Amino acid sequence: MPWKVLITASGIARTGQQAEVALRAAGCQLVKPARPGPYRAAELLPLLADSDAVLASLDEYSAAVLESAGRLKLIARWGVGYDSIDLAAATRLGIVVTYTPGLLDDAVADYTMALLLALPRRICEANASMSEGAWRVELGVDVSGKTLGLIGCGRIGRAVARRAQGFNMRVLAYTPRPKPELQDLGIRPVSLDELLGESDFVSLHAALTAENHGMLGREQFRKFRQGAYLVNTARGALIDEEALVDALNEKRLAGAALDVYRKEPLPPDSPLRRAPNLLLSPHQASFTRETGERVSMASSKAIVDMSQGRLPENVLNPEVLNSSALRWKAGR
Ligand code: DGY
Repeated sequence: MPWKVLITASGIARTGQQAEVALRAAGCQLVKPARPGPYRAAELLPLLADSDAVLASLDEYSAAVLESAGRLKLIARWGVGYDSIDLAAATRLGIVVTYTPGLLDDAVADYTMALLLALPRRICEANASMSEGAWRVELGVDVSGKTLGLIGCGRIGRAVARRAQGFNMRVLAYTPRPKPELQDLGIRPVSLDELLGESDFVSLHAALTAENHGMLGREQFRKFRQGAYLVNTARGALIDEEALVDALNEKRLAGAALDVYRKEPLPPDSPLRRAPNLLLSPHQASFTRETGERVSMASSKAIVDMSQGRLPENVLNPEVLNSSALRWKAGR
């Protein structure tokens, strides 16, 4: 039986031509819904009904969705974040989940630096006023020599640290379990309060978990250095968005840049769209041609491998492979 593969990952349409060729060559039948993901649980249910695998965006793979997808053997996540997948439910139901670690660190780190530089140098304001026919020189704030605080310091955080060190920035990091090697990389592990009090720029690079939902709220915004900037290319739900809008209105922060939101796509009437000194982009930090092609190939390779009976790489729930619930059988 050919595998039926649902594609919700938006990256495939723009950077996945080769990946689609590989999937078809492996005998997979591709199903592309009317629009790319992310899909909410209720929308996902009918789409997944007879799928063997999904090349997945940040769709809501809740336990109920997975329970209803009786044929699903594999969720191949296009990217690294898997907070929208109930991994425990997938494991219980015998569904393998893969992701693509290490392929998009540089793209996200480059983009983070672009936001971090654009904010204090007021590049967006200058462009907007030039487009209106004006000639108004914007007074900026130095980046070089300032302190950057990273919240989360895995692969992407470290890639940002390397770039910031090239700008002669001092780098601090808050992470719940600091690794000894951070010091060797010239990154000083600190408490969250210390980081907020000392950083001129704060950048989020933590995976979203049940523990860190809304970790930057009203109390934390009060602890930021006056005039600091915030950048978020990680996950929107790490921030209390209402509290951020208030902190910007009260000029507690000099500015912020967001690429990610609690609800995506960001609703047209979101107060974030009207907040002062806030630079917004539509979750595109990892989205470059070269990175997209690599991620598309890697995520689809997991489907090609499993559909041909081979073990895939980068399995997030390896324990499922030894479970009696496993829906896939190697070698078939
Ligand atoms: C990821 O890989 O999780 C990025 O946020 C893009 O989806």
